[in-house]
This record gives sequence, C-alpha cells and structure tokens, in this order.
Amino acid sequence: MEPRNLSNKVKWMGAVDWNRRLFDTLIPLPDGTSYNAYLVEGSEKTALIDTVDPAMQDTLMQQLKGIERLDYIISQHAEQDHSGSIPALLKKFPQSVLICSEKAKGLLIDHLLIDPARIKTVADEETLSLGDCTLKFYMTPWVHWPETMVTYLPEDKILFSCDFLGSHIATTRLFAGRDPLVAEAAKRYFAEIMMPFRSFVKKNIEKIRTLDVEMIAPSHGPVYDQPAWIMDDHQDWVSDRYDNLVVLPYVSMHGSTEAMVDFLLSALVKRGVNVQKFELSTTDIGKLAMSLVSAMTIVIGTPTVHVGPHPTVFSATHLANALKPKLKYAAIIGSYGWGTKAVEQISDLIPNLKVEVLGTNMCKGYPKEADFAALDALAETIAQKHRAHFAELK
Ligand code: FEO
Repeated sequence: MEPRNLSNKVKWMGAVDWNRRLFDTLIPLPDGTSYNAYLVEGSEKTALIDTVDPAMQDTLMQQLKGIERLDYIISQHAEQDHSGSIPALLKKFPQSVLICSEKAKGLLIDHLLIDPARIKTVADEETLSLGDCTLKFYMTPWVHWPETMVTYLPEDKILFSCDFLGSHIATTRLFAGRDPLVAEAAKRYFAEIMMPFRSFVKKNIEKIRTLDVEMIAPSHGPVYDQPAWIMDDHQDWVSDRYDNLVVLPYVSMHGSTEAMVDFLLSALVKRGVNVQKFELSTTDIGKLAMSLVSAMTIVIGTPTVHVGPHPTVFSATHLANALKPKLKYAAIIGSYGWGTKAVEQISDLIPNLKVEVLGTNMCKGYPKEADFAALDALAETIAQKHRAHFAELK
C-alpha cells in the first residue's frame, strides 16, 4: 500500500502481512498482522519510527523512494518484526542516526549486528527536536521486551506505542474506530504476547494516561483514533476482576477423559458457572490464551501416556504456565490404564500459576459411579469458591 497521512507531519508506512499465520513459529495469527512504521517530517529533520519485518523490507523501501534524507531511525523495540529492516535503512540513508533506549542498544548490536557508532541512546522523557515538532521518549519496559519505549508527538497528540496496545490483524483500515474485530484481535494479542507482563502493562498504562493523547499508533494493527477504549480494555485485563468462568483444556484418547470433562461441564453449568472447553489436539491456542485472561479457574483434563500426561496436554500446560494468567483455582482430572503420575507431572509444570488446587480426580479406565460423584463434588467446590468470591465484592 501507499503511505497514508495520519496528520500533516505524520505518514503511516509499513506492510500488511495478510498471509502470516504463525508468530515465533508458535503463536497463531488467524487474521494475519501488520508491521507499521511512521514517518514524521519536521521543518528541519525527518524521523522514521520503527521499520518492518525483514521479509517485507521491499515494501517499506518502495514507500521511502521519494524521501531523500532521513535523519533519524527510531527503534522502539529491538525485536526483528520492527527492527529487522534497520540494517538496510542505515545503508540506504548513510547520514541517519539510530535512536533507541540504552537497553535496546546492546540488543540491536547482538541481534542485528548494527555498528555501535550509528546509535544514539535516549533516556526516559528525553526529547528530540525535528524543528517545528518534537519527539519525546518514554521508557515502557516489558511491553514487550525489557528495552521497549514509546514515542510521543505532543504537537499532534499522537503516541507511537510499538507492540504495546497492538493487535494482530491484517486490514486495509488505517483507523480502528470501535471495530469489534480489532478489539478481538487486540485481546488475542494481549493474551498471547503481553499477559505474562501484566504488572508492567499496568504501570505503563498509568504512565501513558498522564499524556494528552488523541491517537495511539501501534506498530501492529490499525491506529486507535478513539484511544480511550483500548486503554480501558487493557486496564480491565490487568485488573483483579474475574469472570465466573472455568477454562477446561483437555485431550481424550478413548473417550474416558472426555466423559469426565463433559460430566464436569454439565455439573458446573447446573451450578451457574460458565465453562469454556478446549479439545487441545484441534484448538487454536490463541483462543485458549484469550479465555485465560479473566478466568477464575482452570481444570486440566488428560489421559495417561507412558505414566505422564498426554504430550499435547503437557505442551499446553507449559504454555499456560508461561503466560501467567491471573487464575485463582485449578484442578486436574483424567484417566489411566494401569498406573499414572500425570497429576504430579502436571503440578510440576505450573509453578507460575498462583492457584489453589481444588481437587484432582484420575480414574482407572472409563469413569464409574464413584468417579462421577467425585466430579460432582469438585463442581460444587468450584461453584462455592466462585460464589464466595463474588459475594465478597458485594
Ligand atoms: Fe512486534 Fe515484540 O514484536
């Protein structure tokens, strides 16, 4: 696409990656993504904020064809989807200076082999004059890496936020408006990328709320021209608010674990608790991550394979632990043929989840009357815990 104006001084550039379906060879991108760069043309100097994934470098180079002089390249985040084209840009614009945080400097040198002589670091709240406008940098660590910063253009009240507040969605729309598809993509993005850094997201939201912002321009997804809702949504996701929800990821090999899962689901719903069930061999793990954003309880269901949990459950549990959702309660259910250590092995996989374990229930073969009774009792325990939580809030 051609560059598009955000204001008289600012142009959107970058690439929409319609076909990308995985990030980090792990994270599902069902709706693709974009890598946004922003050209800011002051009366004296010109700066480019972020670049694009190197696979789409040619698109950015084409957009920059008419630009004879680029004084500054701002790297807000060293990860390759935003900084991977910097080496080519430094070559194309030999007079340009690379601006980044102190922490980003080492990462850019290590990851992209950039000549340190081309780099100038900036500190929190440092400014850079472009003549009739100014870029002001704010350090926002851990959204997404430790070196990340955002850039504020006070004259136009635009905040360039890089990964922070972004969304993975390919679209021709420049502005998000109140599009529910963007809201969904932003929640997926938060769940898959930012959830482990909840406390930092919270602090950084507070930091940017002190600025007078009319537009938030992330480096993934469309620009927020009504920025209040995206900040409010993030504030909710990092808050202590829970949904009355049990997330139930599971795998079943011969139907025993599935029978337990379905029984527990019904027993919970009967007691007024919502459930989201995910069959892990086919599920979109991004959807699972989204469900964990505000869920109160997780119940993991697994058959036994060679004494331990099914490898697919092992992998999903490891991922859930890495995402550090704000869960309060957990339980493990499942089945085995002749012996099992699945509960012990799953428990060892979730040290990051600060949960109270409400029960474990592994049955030999197909569940029998006593197993269903135990599941009914587990459903009652979970429902009581949920009721008690919401009663405390009244
Ligand atoms: Fe969009 Fe952390 O990179």
